[in-house]
Amino acid sequence: SKGGYRHFMLKEIHEQSQVIAATLEGRLGDHQVLVNSFGTDAEQLFRGVRQVHIIACGTSYHAGMVARYWIEKLAGVPTQVEVASEYRYREVVVPEGTLFVTLSQSGETADTLAALRFAKQRDYRGSLAICNVPGSSLVRESDLTLMTQAGPEIGVASTKAFTTQLVALMLLALALGRVRGANGEHAPIVQGLRELPGVINQVLALDGEVERLSMAFAEKHHALFLGRGAHFPIAQEGALKLKEISYIHAEAYPAGELKHGPLALVDSEMPVIAVAPNDELLEKLKSNLQEVRARGGELFVFADESIRMETSAHLHVLRVPAVSDALAPIVYTIPLQLLAYHVAVLKGTDVDQPRNLAKSVTVE
Ligand code: F6R
Repeated sequence: SKGGYRHFMLKEIHEQSQVIAATLEGRLGDHQVLVNSFGTDAEQLFRGVRQVHIIACGTSYHAGMVARYWIEKLAGVPTQVEVASEYRYREVVVPEGTLFVTLSQSGETADTLAALRFAKQRDYRGSLAICNVPGSSLVRESDLTLMTQAGPEIGVASTKAFTTQLVALMLLALALGRVRGANGEHAPIVQGLRELPGVINQVLALDGEVERLSMAFAEKHHALFLGRGAHFPIAQEGALKLKEISYIHAEAYPAGELKHGPLALVDSEMPVIAVAPNDELLEKLKSNLQEVRARGGELFVFADESIRMETSAHLHVLRVPAVSDALAPIVYTIPLQLLAYHVAVLKGTDVDQPRNLAKSVTVE
């Protein structure tokens, strides 16, 4: 049932606080992640990990892209992320100690499963599946598993499965850091995780404001999403959501790439959405934003509430509650989901079952 919501997607967006709490349940100690959340063999297996290869499709791939920033920063382990349909067909070099990680909501995505079977014929350190469906093929065939606790996701456009994957991947980054000797320095992130469900509820309260912003998009044919660092894949995910359910062409760029090409597209018909949490990249992002404004582009900035930037002609600022840098990608996903949702509703599309798409892609 839609629980009083107009669409499953909106219901699932609003469940995120609760399912994130469920995904954290029993997996955190006082100041550290519990490594055995990944299985009783996890600690021993993780100790020998020297690289990570993360393989997924679509939205799950975007979660993997965020994880690369986290694993390299918090655990110092080199990490590669690739879509399954590419990885499985190339001559992948597998250095000693490579952990093979798949991400999948369904656990049945054909290319991701094929990539796991490909990996099992080669010399990896081991395989880990982060998945939302117990007993799925991916879960059955992997050495280690960590279940996201998103519950059934009905809307074809993935929302709560994505944010719970991000939470699971943060647990992975912390666990790899822990076995490699991180000692207490990640305690603030563990505390941030505990507070995350409350922060998510605050962000969900921005729904009405995002709905008002969405009106500027309904008549547009294109949109550009910008982010930097771990927010580049969040921008990609925002663009994918908009494409999938509103059928508006959207692209995402790392903000620093703007002047290397896409700036040529910017005019008053091309709204630009910038994901701008208050991290060390903010100053650089601000200068990118000037470039957009100078070309008459309509700019939507989703920014930390502490940022000094006011809504003015052609500049719309959505203030997002303050959150630690490490967890900001999870929080900033939510207004982007809401934006795509409201634009789709305005356009009158079939939000829960967008044309041409299937919930589970079991063919190649
Ligand atoms: C988009 C979406 C898809 C899936 C992709 C992989 O909203 O849901 O891009 O993420 O088809 O599916 P799973 O995660 O089941 O492997």
